[in-house]
Amino acid sequence: LLMNGLVVAASLPDDTQIQAAVDKAYQDYRSLSDGANADYIPALAEVDPALFGIALITTDGKLYSAGDLNTQVSIQSISKVFTMAKVVEESGRLSIYDNMGVDATGQVFNSINAIEQHQGAEMNPLVNPGAIAATSMVKGKDAADIWHSILSYYSDFAGRQLTVLDDVYQSEAATNQRNQALAMLMYAYGHINGDPLQATDIYTRQCSVGVTAKDLAMMAATLANAGKNPVTGQPLVQSENVPEILAVMATAGLYDDSGKWLYKTGLPAKSGVGGGLIAVSPGKFGIAVISPPLDAAGNSVRAQKAITDISNALGGNPY
Ligand code: DON
Repeated sequence: LLMNGLVVAASLPDDTQIQAAVDKAYQDYRSLSDGANADYIPALAEVDPALFGIALITTDGKLYSAGDLNTQVSIQSISKVFTMAKVVEESGRLSIYDNMGVDATGQVFNSINAIEQHQGAEMNPLVNPGAIAATSMVKGKDAADIWHSILSYYSDFAGRQLTVLDDVYQSEAATNQRNQALAMLMYAYGHINGDPLQATDIYTRQCSVGVTAKDLAMMAATLANAGKNPVTGQPLVQSENVPEILAVMATAGLYDDSGKWLYKTGLPAKSGVGGGLIAVSPGKFGIAVISPPLDAAGNSVRAQKAITDISNALGGNPY
């Protein structure tokens, strides 16, 4: 829009139109049963595949929702965004860029080859090796202190105290030998700060944090709102650090399908194998959908469809 010679962002449609877009996506995809729960972490296979919740929170803190807003799933890889934010806040905007990098790997999220390609560099903090390295960069005097600092940071984004889903943590901790191997290799190439197995354990805990669709929407809305929680008003990321975080989400948020996603929506986003997906329309809204069945790339089928339709109906694409 051009007003008085100034280019200004088009504003969102009114309340009823936003709610109507959310309701329509819920109705359109409610009975869609494509995809399958992740099962390489045994506890994830047991989550009800019918679970479906949509939440959108605007930068002025209004919530629009449909479906299940009360059931928690594990946050999984969506946590990686917020650990990246923590490291950038604690250690500066170049800390992530200089360690594991901010490039797409072209490989699956837990690829050994991606490490070998550039000896643990030229990847990003949203794939497992980069994420475990990012977790190892969080400051604290011991493992418990680092963990509490991470959990309280995530909780501030959600605007409530979050906790670990213990069954998911136990299940993942018993089966995370591959992540331990990734961490060891990243350590061997000099990208892990301290004990790689400690970093892997803290990473496993962070992936097991329980969140609802509303929690995830609040976390996304905080990024949409230049780093300030739109309801509590708490500043969590300095506004000048937000664009870099969104850039990494745009590059690598949906793994091998990140390009396709950006092509269709223009939205920085992040998926998790628990079935959550967050997306950010800067200055406008954060949106989250929870629906456990995933496609072949590891992204929630219904979440991708619902967010694409809602954002396109609301003019959420910043490009
Ligand atoms: O480390 C893992 O494999 C899981 N805790 C997280 C992976 C994940 O969510 C990838 N998402 N698409």
